[in-house]
Amino acid sequence: MSRIFSGAQPSGALHIGNFYGAMQQWVALEKEPGNETIFCVVDAHAITVEYEAKDLPKRVFEAAAGYLAAGLNPEKSIVFIQSDVKEHMELSWYLTTLTMMGELNRMTQFKEKSEQHQENNNAGLFTYPVLMAADILLYKADLIPVGEDQVQHLELARDICRRFNHRFGKVFPEPKPRLSSAPRIMGLDGKHKMSKSRGNTIDLEDSPKVIEKKLKGAFTDPLKVALGSPGRPEVCNIFTLHKAASSPEVVAEVDRDCRSGALPCGTCKMRLRDAMLADLQPVQERYVELRKKPSLVTEAVAQGAERARAIAKSTMADVYGAMGLTSSSQKVPT
Ligand code: TYM
Repeated sequence: MSRIFSGAQPSGALHIGNFYGAMQQWVALEKEPGNETIFCVVDAHAITVEYEAKDLPKRVFEAAAGYLAAGLNPEKSIVFIQSDVKEHMELSWYLTTLTMMGELNRMTQFKEKSEQHQENNNAGLFTYPVLMAADILLYKADLIPVGEDQVQHLELARDICRRFNHRFGKVFPEPKPRLSSAPRIMGLDGKHKMSKSRGNTIDLEDSPKVIEKKLKGAFTDPLKVALGSPGRPEVCNIFTLHKAASSPEVVAEVDRDCRSGALPCGTCKMRLRDAMLADLQPVQERYVELRKKPSLVTEAVAQGAERARAIAKSTMADVYGAMGLTSSSQKVPT
């Protein structure tokens, strides 16, 4: 039995990088008997970059709706919004005292983001990975399904966890990352990771027509120039997506026929389109339902927050005890 925790930032529409990189695993892990699954919309992380306060509630709603549309069942999983459970921010502070400046300085995502947001290089952007460690440790989670870009943050969370346990006694299990078969999906531009901020995404709610158009324009192996020339699946983003969306038989066929030159990129892309549409159709149907009845989303996250708070309070009691931060009545030295 595992306790699973993961989350995504409310960055607007969810895309297939989120879906195949992480969320499909969330749903699969929820279905495995015996697992306890907890999924959070991390709005407190999202405010580390410039944002409009008036737009944030809508973005949070969209993300929560996306979790349910992707197939999470809020009766089983705890689905909630990070800022509804204040203990995340509280534990994060305590963990900053166990985190070295040098460790945070080495985070590649911090380096990238502080480059991108030079006008707003705030301390929250720097301590972002500590809040992420707090998210995980607050629920004593042991398995964290994420895309590859989050692995360095998870390594830091493990180091913080070990340091806490070593210094104050064992309170937390060590969280391990779990990667999908498509842990790094590139954007349609072929230059960067697929991400909302780069505008290079296929979104979960894109229509079949839009998906087809976007796939047609997507990059493949740059050396496979002529029709009939052999390709290299290992460098092709379309092949990475096949690994996530197609059956193992189709993946093996695509691999073989791409290498031999028998499979033109256009045909390969249309096979991928069909596999992706089969995955996305039920997601899009659920989106339609949730948009008709938004209370399904708001009620799910309200109930999720209550369940999350109960676990968070109990963990914080362990943390106060372990760190010597006892309640005021016990503070009088004896
Ligand atoms: P975020 O919001 O950037 O992405 C959510 C999840 O989607 C994965 N992902 C991808 N996987 C493969 N290819 C891509 N192009 C791609 N784009 C996104 C991410 O790896 C992630 O799993 N810091 C986290 C959110 C977070 C979190 C946590 C995650 C906060 N606290 C605790 C796990 C545990 C983030 O910004 O993810």
